[in-house]
Amino acid sequence: IPVDNFDLVIFGGTGDLARRKILPGLFRRFRAGQMPEDARVIAAARSEHDDASYRSEIEAAIKEFGGAESKDRKGLKAFLERLHYVAVDARGDGGWQQLKDLMRDGVVRAFYFSVAPGLFGDLAERLHTHGIADRDSRLVVEKPFGRDLKSARALNATLADHFNEDQIYRIDHYLGKETVQNLMAVRFANVLFEPLWNSHYVDHIQITVAETVGVGGRGSYYDKSGAMRDMVQNHLMQLLCLIAMEPPNQFEADAVRDEKLKVIRALQPIDSHHIVRGQYEASEKTASYREDVENPKSTTESFIALRATIANWRWAGVPFYLRTGKRLKARSSEINVVFKDLGHSIFEGDEARHRNVLTIRLQPNEGIDLQVTIKEPGPGGMRLIDVPLDMTFAQALGDEADDVTDAYERLIMDVIRGNQTLFMRGDEVEAAWAWTDPLIEGWEARHDVPKVYDTGSSGPEDSLMLMHRDGRRWRDIK
Ligand code: BG6
Repeated sequence: IPVDNFDLVIFGGTGDLARRKILPGLFRRFRAGQMPEDARVIAAARSEHDDASYRSEIEAAIKEFGGAESKDRKGLKAFLERLHYVAVDARGDGGWQQLKDLMRDGVVRAFYFSVAPGLFGDLAERLHTHGIADRDSRLVVEKPFGRDLKSARALNATLADHFNEDQIYRIDHYLGKETVQNLMAVRFANVLFEPLWNSHYVDHIQITVAETVGVGGRGSYYDKSGAMRDMVQNHLMQLLCLIAMEPPNQFEADAVRDEKLKVIRALQPIDSHHIVRGQYEASEKTASYREDVENPKSTTESFIALRATIANWRWAGVPFYLRTGKRLKARSSEINVVFKDLGHSIFEGDEARHRNVLTIRLQPNEGIDLQVTIKEPGPGGMRLIDVPLDMTFAQALGDEADDVTDAYERLIMDVIRGNQTLFMRGDEVEAAWAWTDPLIEGWEARHDVPKVYDTGSSGPEDSLMLMHRDGRRWRDIK
């Protein structure tokens, strides 16, 4: 079903995100028939382009990042005709009138700020002074949304000068991933899980987002951020919220976001011995973190593991172990809900020690499975084995680029539909920084130096100890 007709302006339309994710994603929606035939995508950036040169740049990008679908030459040509280019001066007057002239009345107007946050204020202001944005327009903003509570508040205030909260779509692309939404369906559309979803039955929860890539060409950004700001404050905390939140009374933007906010506010401060930071070492083929960021004394973490607790009735005493890092042994993101042992087992010895685990796999092989214990088939007596009860509904997505794109295209369509459920509200982002700020300040004050770990490993030894000390262990990264 096509969404309403729209004009989408992408500020930063020549940037990396636009080329890798936003435009290939839109192309896929176009091919799927969801993007109306005459919808327009207007790239606005500094470089001098005309429509033709911009289209050929994006054609190349879609061929590179758009997966198998970019082989559809006819479809690609039709899509490229939807693209326009305007050179605008974010801090001056140049180009704004041309942009205004391109915009049509009577269609949804959406503005995607895929630029440095330092420009948000200038762009928002000019959109208004030139009469381009109005009360019905939508604004999409990318992470990083600030680098601490203070800067996030300032950004929220800047945007609030020109847009209302119900016009602002703060993207966290993890919320657009298929299984993340499935997680909500599994929790809230089944009678089976909710009765067990609490401290009486859940022993602990693990959230792992492991990557094999290093910091690549983003060294200068990354070295000022680190894994905590880059991944935990947004993606991992969003996952944690969806796992831990109370059932919202309906699947509606504010109802969902109110519940997520309560989780963030109930997160407890963490002692320093429950946080492990790491930095990857060089391997034969790849450079070390410090080499990658060209900062031989860097103390920024490319890995972090921590043990969080939530102070409310449902989760009292249940640890949430979070870890994420670059250059680990596999690209694998999953959430594991590990249930408690049975109070009493009728089976003896080793046969008694089995646990149910609900695994939500974000990537690769998106899916959900429940580890259950059954009798090993055969005549060998009562021997128990764990088998997965596979609940994979989504077809496994293709290559790595594809599943990221998938999240983006879904979210952009939600913007056009005016559905904010999968976007972060301003107060949520601020609350998340309010939790991470003291942790970051803590290690900065201690002059904490990250532990090194081997490229291709599961992270520093100390991160394994974080769980061993509690008599638990991480699930393998595979
Ligand atoms: C981004 C981070 O938000 O998410 C990157 O800035 C990270 O550092 C990326 O690599 C991971 O996304 P995905 O979808 O590939 O897991």
